[in-house]
Parts: sequence; C-alpha cells; structure tokens
Amino acid sequence: MSGVTVRVPAKVNVQLAVGGARPDGFHDLANVFLAVSLYDEVTATPAETLTVTCEGPDADKVPLDRSNLAARAAELLAARHGISPDVHLHIVKDIPVAGGMAGGSADGAGALLACDALWGLNTPRAELLDICAELGSDVPFSLVGGAALGVGRGERLTELPVGGAAGGAAGGAFHWVFAVADGGLSTPAVYGEFDRLNEGVAVPEPAASPVLLDALRTGDATALAGALANDLQPAALSLRPSLAATLAAGTDAGALAALVSGSGPTTAFLVKDPESAESVAAALIASGTCRTARVATSPAAGARVLD
Ligand code: C5P
Repeated sequence: MSGVTVRVPAKVNVQLAVGGARPDGFHDLANVFLAVSLYDEVTATPAETLTVTCEGPDADKVPLDRSNLAARAAELLAARHGISPDVHLHIVKDIPVAGGMAGGSADGAGALLACDALWGLNTPRAELLDICAELGSDVPFSLVGGAALGVGRGERLTELPVGGAAGGAAGGAFHWVFAVADGGLSTPAVYGEFDRLNEGVAVPEPAASPVLLDALRTGDATALAGALANDLQPAALSLRPSLAATLAAGTDAGALAALVSGSGPTTAFLVKDPESAESVAAALIASGTCRTARVATSPAAGARVLD
C-alpha cells in the first residue's frame, strides 16, 4: 500500500463554558463544538522511521518533532499494538496554526486514523477515542466532527443533532467567516489569564445552554447568534486587545454575531447566508484588523479516510 490520506475539519466552540481550575490544572468545561469546513489532510506512508513534514502557508510555524500531535498519535497507536511507528506523516495544513480552531488536534486525529488504516489494525472506535483523549482535550472531537457537547476537560463527548441532520453528518446549516490573526495564542496562557481574571470569584459550574442546543438542533442562525458564548473571550482579549477591533469590524459589516474562537486569536463571525459571508470576509480584510479571512460552513464531517 502506498499511502493513506485522512481529511480532518477545524472547529469553532459555539459555547465554551469554563469552570474553576481543577487540582490537575485543567478546567471543567461545557464545550459545544461545531466542526467547520476548513480542513487539514494527513497522509501516512511506510518509512524507515517516524518523520513528519508539513506544507501550506503557515507550515514554518508547525513543529516537526515529537511535540507534533500527529507524531505522538502514531507513537501511541503503535505502542498499543506493540509495533514500531515507522511511518512518514505529511500534513497539508489549511487550518490556522495556534488559532483556537483545533488545528493541532486535527492533525493528531488524522494521523491516528491514517496509521490505523495503513497498518491494517482496525482499532475499535472506542479505543481510538481513548487515544485521542490522551493526546489532548479537543482531539476526540476532531475524530467525531459534526457537533458535540464535550464535558470533563472537553474530551467526554455526546454528539448533537444540527439543523435536523445527525451530529456526524456533513451539511450547510450555518455559515461562518473566520478572521485569522497574525501570530498565535498559547492555550495554557489563555487559561492562565482566565484564572487571573477570575481570582477570588466563585466561578459557576459550567453547563450547556438549552437555548443554544435548541438553536443548533433547529438550524436557526438568528437564535444561535444570540446564544454564542465563550468564557475564554475576556482572557483572549486581555492578552490580545487588538481583537476587539476585529470583532467590531465583522459586526459592523453585518455579521449576526462575533466571538473569539476557543482560546483565540482567530475570531468567528456567524452570518446569515453565503452572500453575507463573502461581504463580511471582504470587509474584514479591508479593515486591516486581521491577516486574512476565510469562509466556511458547518457542520462538517469528522476525520475520514479519502479514497
Ligand atoms: O488538553 P490540551 O493539551 O489541549 O490542553 C492544553 C492546555 O490547555 C492544558 O495544559 C491546560 O493548560 C489548558 N486546558 C485547561 N482546561 C481544559 C483544557 C485545556 O486548562 N479543559
């Protein structure tokens, strides 16, 4: 077999409710993930030893050593099966790097699925999800896609229906624009800033919003716009105050709502239709408040092997 290619979507958190810091340093979450149609592709081919390469506009920002989640995924899968992770992983990167859109997690899930197919392991889905959770809090969702509620540190998933479709199904219920910022934000730094901003505050137990879940289920963009919420947004804005101007540029241009995507610094704009997506993207680029803007739809399917 020459190689196996897997396509994996980015995500936006339509609700990210964050609890207080736990003794292990993580935070309990009610994290409503929605997969969006920006994708990385990971190709696994047989090799003498484990190597990683990457291409794409931001490829120079992707680590190619064992800190890359794709490499770690290959190592964990091989270790479980008592084999050697002799594979070359090539990543075609289209998801913003360190952008709060789970690009690194996507590569972890993609490599896991690609290696499983290349090595003919047929690892049960539940075991793949365990490995994903070991790789990182957002990695299980990259495998599953669609829409899901993540609890615990975000890794324990329940799939959610969107716009009448099943959670894992691809479709075009919602239209988005993503403003890509210059440089990334470190996820631990943003959670650290969340803790600093909430010092002495009794942070409530995180819970999913019934109004938001209903808006997702019915595919109602206006209702979803009113319910979007990200508890990490004040922390991301505190570390990167210039994001306020990006959020304002998108809403001024007619977006239904704007929020920071996950830990940022990518900002997400929910829009009513594809025409509005194009005009909001053009206005964001013209505003000079972001590096570039990308248009996408959701939900998108999870990681899957391409023919
Ligand atoms: O799980 P992952 O490796 O993606 O997490 C990266 C960092 O984000 C953690 O080390 C932690 O600082 C923070 N985090 C958190 N609570 C979560 C998820 C992530 O504090 N639920």
